[in-house]
Amino acid sequence: MSSDIPDADDAAAGGSPATSDEPEANDSPVEEAAKRTPTGVPLRVDGLVKRFGGVTAVDGASFEVEQGSLTGLIGPNGAGKSTTFNCITGVHEPTAGNIYFKNEDITGLKPYQIARKGLVRTFQIARELEEMTVLENLMLAPKGQLGESAIRAVTPGLRGEVVTQEEEIRERAWETLDFFEIDHLATEHAGNLSGGQRKLLEMARALMTDPELVLLDEPLAGVNPTLEEKLLDRIHQLREDGYTFLLVEHDMDIIMNNCEHVIVMHQGSVLAEGTGDEIRNNEQVIEAYLGEDI
Ligand SMILES: Nc1ncnc2c1ncn2[C@@H]1O[C@H](COP(=O)(O)OP(=O)(O)OP(=O)(O)O)[C@@H](O)[C@H]1O
Ligand SMILES: [Mg+2]
Repeated sequence: MSSDIPDADDAAAGGSPATSDEPEANDSPVEEAAKRTPTGVPLRVDGLVKRFGGVTAVDGASFEVEQGSLTGLIGPNGAGKSTTFNCITGVHEPTAGNIYFKNEDITGLKPYQIARKGLVRTFQIARELEEMTVLENLMLAPKGQLGESAIRAVTPGLRGEVVTQEEEIRERAWETLDFFEIDHLATEHAGNLSGGQRKLLEMARALMTDPELVLLDEPLAGVNPTLEEKLLDRIHQLREDGYTFLLVEHDMDIIMNNCEHVIVMHQGSVLAEGTGDEIRNNEQVIEAYLGEDI
């Protein structure tokens, strides 16, 4: 897959390698995605269990995420969605079960090892990063940054390589800022950003690591409608370019309008899966949400 963040205009022009049929202009994102031919299953979660002392946060969850999809992961508060994300990305070690990324068992690997393989989740901007500029935040994000290694930095013959890579990372950071339309904030301290701008930066940071699969845990919480639309638009553009997304979101309209496949978790396991419509009309799902609107 291309390591470049697509130019917004290119993506809008529909240069998608994953699209077999040209989408009709009036198709919804869900309909457009349904026309794509699935090309594989990058993520498979098999019998995942995570206990914290006496609390079973995830209780035998199994599901798959299709290549190039925008899959929604929903469920009532405490269903185990964030814990599942943390197990997938190596933040927590699973108590039992397995996680496969592109058919490789990644269970129990460290977060940086998993990120290097192309599977990342977004994180809130940590306090120490708030004092850095937006550009610095992006430049620190990439995996395998040679400049991180002191030995390489002082070894004759390798220093040039470090400088070249830093330049590449800087260029990529600017492209990414441009893609998310936050280039005007490049020299701003991350701590000064609005809630919505932070969410854009969090996603931009995740993309700087050149992932294939991005897990988004409530990326739109507290984001105003204009920025929300922008973020969703960017997610769809990236998906057109071959990225895969798994999205946790409480707003059912967002899930139903954007995800072609929805997985419902309840009490630590998968209760149902299907299209938005199937989920909305599923009796067990309605019961799990205790009559809340879904
Ligand atoms: N580090 C932890 N230590 C102890 N219990 C935890 C821990 N993390 C999560 N839990 C518990 O595990 C269960 C699942 O939590 P989790 O955060 O995964 O749910 P969630 O589906 O993301 O909920 P929400 O929609 O509210 O974000 C909850 O009962 C929670 O209290
Ligand atoms: Mg959560």
